[in-house]
Amino acid sequence: MKKIVCDSPFLAAQAAADVFEEQIKAKSNSVLGLATGSTPIELYNELASRCSQGRFDFSQAQTFNLDEYYPMKADNAQSYRSFMNKHLFSKVNFANSRVLNGEVSDPHAECAKFDSEIEAVGGIDLQLLGIGHNGHIGFCEPSTSYTLDTYLVDLTDDTIEANSRFFGEGETQPNQALTMGVGTIFKARKILLLITGESKADITKKLFDGVLYTDVPACLLLLHPDVTVVLDKAAAKHL
Ligand code: GLP
Repeated sequence: MKKIVCDSPFLAAQAAADVFEEQIKAKSNSVLGLATGSTPIELYNELASRCSQGRFDFSQAQTFNLDEYYPMKADNAQSYRSFMNKHLFSKVNFANSRVLNGEVSDPHAECAKFDSEIEAVGGIDLQLLGIGHNGHIGFCEPSTSYTLDTYLVDLTDDTIEANSRFFGEGETQPNQALTMGVGTIFKARKILLLITGESKADITKKLFDGVLYTDVPACLLLLHPDVTVVLDKAAAKHL
């Protein structure tokens, strides 16, 4: 795993944007895997700003998002579709953007369809990831066994609690989600893991301990041949 430690979350977003810039300049029709959460917001701002400066564009690129709550209406303010529209898709033009559909009656069919769509476009070139405090990637929660393909997951109490900050009073927070499985994530040719903030320092240390903790899904990335971890100083505090 390649590690880049930056002085601030802003500089970490710049370093992550550099990875995207390099990717899109090398292959204009790249297939990009995208993530949600508070961590990538600054990166998405930076990508939008570089596009508006004309440094590059994403008009031939396609995107696939890691996950979506289930059940969840796409136009609900808390959906990951709404998140992506707000932070990126409204500012940057992509050839196609696919987010798992949290409204379907058959979630398993939706998951299978999603994986075959990724395969049909030749697989993901660059997958962006964040990390949960419990080590989850996408919504692949800590477990003794891991589902490889995109699947319907029961969220852990930790995750529901951590993400409750995004839900206002009276808004229902789902306790399930559709997420790329670790096998789908692993098929990405290149992975960019962005980690910022002191609250992630403990889980970050586990990633760099030189141990594959089986209850930390992000540790599975230790086995992938091309992973870049971009961190700010606060997240790298114990390294
Ligand atoms: C959610 C998403 C993850 C993300 C995580 C961390 O659970 N499913 O993809 O990495 O949140 O979010 P944050 O960046 O807000 O800490």
